[in-house]
Amino acid sequence: MTTMRTHIRSIVASWRSQSPAVRLIRLWLGVTWIYGGWDKATDPGFLGKTSSTSINKQLIGYSKSSPMGFLFRHMIERSTAIGVMVMVLEFAIGIATLLWIAPTMTAFVGFTMSVGLWIAVTWHVKPYFLGSDTAYAVLWLAYFLTLVGKRRKIDVSLDRRGAIRVGAVGVAAIAAMLLGRVAQKSTTAAPTAGGSSSAKQLIKLADLAVGQTHEFVNADGQPAIVFRTKNGVFAYSEVCTHQGCTVSYSPPDKALICPCHGAAYDPFNSAAVLGGPTNTPLSSIKVAISGSWVVLV
Ligand code: FES
Repeated sequence: MTTMRTHIRSIVASWRSQSPAVRLIRLWLGVTWIYGGWDKATDPGFLGKTSSTSINKQLIGYSKSSPMGFLFRHMIERSTAIGVMVMVLEFAIGIATLLWIAPTMTAFVGFTMSVGLWIAVTWHVKPYFLGSDTAYAVLWLAYFLTLVGKRRKIDVSLDRRGAIRVGAVGVAAIAAMLLGRVAQKSTTAAPTAGGSSSAKQLIKLADLAVGQTHEFVNADGQPAIVFRTKNGVFAYSEVCTHQGCTVSYSPPDKALICPCHGAAYDPFNSAAVLGGPTNTPLSSIKVAISGSWVVLV
């Protein structure tokens, strides 16, 4: 009880001892990081593979667009674990910032994370000031330098009490993530998923010109892609037959390519394997043109 009182006193003292400008930065960063974790935790599609907001799709995107793409390529296979880690880390950074737990170390981790997000997400944003990650990196760095002050020395040593507090933040971050998963936002049914007769409609024919593709969620909940050529329509599962990463269509290569280990499939030849560590073609999905729609059969 006394320990708790002492810690509450030190939290209050930490806020009191800071200037209004630093308090504002600290509050903004702490709340934003918690909100970032909550937003992901309550997103039902975040840990899946089919939603546009899924960590899997995001990592695939970063592997193609980031200057450190090779790093993200290695993460795709472990996207669920990476997603959980990101959520817990965001909650932990936010909570620790607000509650003055290992503040210098937390500010440095916040800075490192913002730089990582900048390299992954907003590297190509032009002009640069439209990408928020650079602004957050600078804000964290400014906050970090304020905490380091004139000491020019980072104290990363933790006494027993400090270690217990850091552990408590970890537990609180995991609890917040689990709470978010339980309180997920309601999902709107995927409009192109199979199921009832009306839900079998994938896309209006008018919206799929000859030569175009359309990604959809198959009836089994897995990502899939439909092609339209002058001969008709055909579709495949986007689940790689090697280890289950999500393939995507590369128009210049005229191939479905897996970002994990480079398997390539020929969509115009029954998804036959063109290269990579598998011999099994992608599963084909029966589709047809029915009236003005492309439908699952
Ligand atoms: S999962 Fe290994 S090549 Fe696709």
